[in-house]
Amino acid sequence: MIDLPRTLRWPDGLDAARFLRDFWQRRPLLLPGAFPGIRSPVEPDELAGLACDPDVESRIVHEHDPKRPWQVSHGPFDEAVFANLPETHWTLLVQDVDKHVPAVAELLACFDFLPAWRLDDIMISWAEDGGSVGPHLDQYDVFLVQVQGHRRWRIVTRPNPPTGILPDLDLRILRDFEPDQDWLLGPGDVLYLPPGVPHWGIAEGPCMTWSVGLRAPAWHELAADWFQHLLETRADDSRWRDPPEPEPAASIPDPAELPASLPRIMRSEIERLVADADEDLFRRWLGATLTEQKPNIALLPPEPAWPGAEVLSLLRARGELRRDGASRLLYLRGVGADEPDLLFANGDCHALPAGRCGFLPALCRRPGLLAADAERWLADAACVALLAALFNAGHFVIPDDGLPD
Ligand code: SIN
Ligand code: CO
Repeated sequence: MIDLPRTLRWPDGLDAARFLRDFWQRRPLLLPGAFPGIRSPVEPDELAGLACDPDVESRIVHEHDPKRPWQVSHGPFDEAVFANLPETHWTLLVQDVDKHVPAVAELLACFDFLPAWRLDDIMISWAEDGGSVGPHLDQYDVFLVQVQGHRRWRIVTRPNPPTGILPDLDLRILRDFEPDQDWLLGPGDVLYLPPGVPHWGIAEGPCMTWSVGLRAPAWHELAADWFQHLLETRADDSRWRDPPEPEPAASIPDPAELPASLPRIMRSEIERLVADADEDLFRRWLGATLTEQKPNIALLPPEPAWPGAEVLSLLRARGELRRDGASRLLYLRGVGADEPDLLFANGDCHALPAGRCGFLPALCRRPGLLAADAERWLADAACVALLAALFNAGHFVIPDDGLPD
């Protein structure tokens, strides 16, 4: 098995704290040799195999028609597609490879200087010579990790670059792209880009690039989801009633005219519904939402379920339980000392009785739960029940032989 690096090597004079202060969300940064000796646990033909799976999101970008460069076709692909691709100028991009191949998710441990909820996915691209997805910009931060071969990145570092796009293309290609930086990245080099920086990476020979993408939820999407959840869960059947008039008018001037006060009253009642929402409901909704996976990404629960005692034996025998790539775990401390702490797991919420919060960082650790970190909690029934519930939901990878040594 190929082990991925466990830490990111910062250039001289830089560390995570300085990166967060000076570059994060602000300025691009080249990190030469950040992952020395990195090797992909996924070969290009395995990547092509993933792109044939209907549960995997993939694209091929072709650059052969000068009138319509950067044509995109979407997976799942038939195997024959790969046999018939030209020798150069195409790119295969596969989304969420960290969720489909647990070994790939292990690289995420190197990004533990960022809050885990902000990490989105690892997209892997394989390009033949000359392949690219064209000059574009992304709405989120990305670490572009060169894993195999070479890719030349050109980027625009000037503030407020033009953002106009070329019409009638499959991709959002920038119309005016005037790069002021040009770097050739080789294996182990990383380029960090904050949102909105125009970039264009062209393969020089066949190459593999991993994009560690961050997530930045759109307010209107969060709001729509929260309102829907609130309305579905809140037992409130209050409705409109005409406000009592001190002196009811004998007649209304025009029945078709809305009263001038109506918008203000309606709006304040709707806003009250949202403002009065229970804080605990919001906390639980938020954690569940931030750990929810896309519908095509699923855990594989063991069949039949394992009793807690056997999960403990496995953990103690192996010393570690590796997390499945599709497992998303986050936690929120209880507000008061007696409040339960909440563990969120792929959209589910588990309440752990107060006093056990120290178990949660051990559970959520990437690449996996270490027996040494967990041991002091394993005499506690609530902690064991939580571990067993997560194990039986498929959050941990069962070793190939499935049984403790
Ligand atoms: C690629 O890996 O080919 C493209 C990644 C990007 O430009 O965001
Ligand atoms: Co990009």
